[in-house]
Amino acid sequence: MNVIIVPDYEQMSLHAAALVAGEIRSRSRTVLGLPTGNTPKGMYWELVRMHQAGELDFAGVVTFNIDEYWGLPPDHPMSFAYYLRTHLLQHVNVAPENAHWPDVGQDPAAACQAYEDQIRAVGGLDLAVLGIGHNGHIGFNEPGTAFDSVTHLVRLAQETRLANYRGYGFKDLADVPEYAITMGIQTIMAARRVLLLASGRAKAAAVARAVQGPVTEAVPASILQRHPDATLIVDEAAAFALHASSA
Ligand code: PGA
Repeated sequence: MNVIIVPDYEQMSLHAAALVAGEIRSRSRTVLGLPTGNTPKGMYWELVRMHQAGELDFAGVVTFNIDEYWGLPPDHPMSFAYYLRTHLLQHVNVAPENAHWPDVGQDPAAACQAYEDQIRAVGGLDLAVLGIGHNGHIGFNEPGTAFDSVTHLVRLAQETRLANYRGYGFKDLADVPEYAITMGIQTIMAARRVLLLASGRAKAAAVARAVQGPVTEAVPASILQRHPDATLIVDEAAAFALHASSA
């Protein structure tokens, strides 16, 4: 893994946006797997700024959200589809038919299969951008998820529901859905390139386990050690627990 340590959240966001922009500019069509959460907001702001400044064209960009709450329709303000529209899609020129998220309105197994089929139909992901959970999850692949998993329905860990309740503005813990659909570990690992972002001391332990711990299904992000082109951009606070020798 290529680990890039930057001073702070702003630098993480700028570096991440530059990497994503480089991918978009490098080919006529770029298929992105995109995350939600608090971590990537600054990256999206910078990508939008680049577009509005005339520096970045999204006409050839195809997007797939990494995950989605089960039971929240795309127009629900807490859905990840809504998040991506408000943080990126409304402000750039991704064609509406090129923006994808799991269809939570149908049978879960059919929705998961359809999502895998859609990703395959465009030739797979060129770049998957990820956050990391305190428990080491990527997407909503919670600890214990099989490394060979594809897109699937997942019951969210209680710590994930709590983190989402505290971090994302849900009024009540009971409002945080219990289930979600997520790209599987294998789906993410099949991306040609992976970028993982982490900011803040609260992510330091998860980052250290992902980068320097054993590769284990108990720490889903640790599988990225086996990806041929994985980059981690972490700020100094999130890099706090990394040993200097291999960071
Ligand atoms: P966060 O979420 O960016 O809101 O911290 C990351 C995650 O849980 O994957």
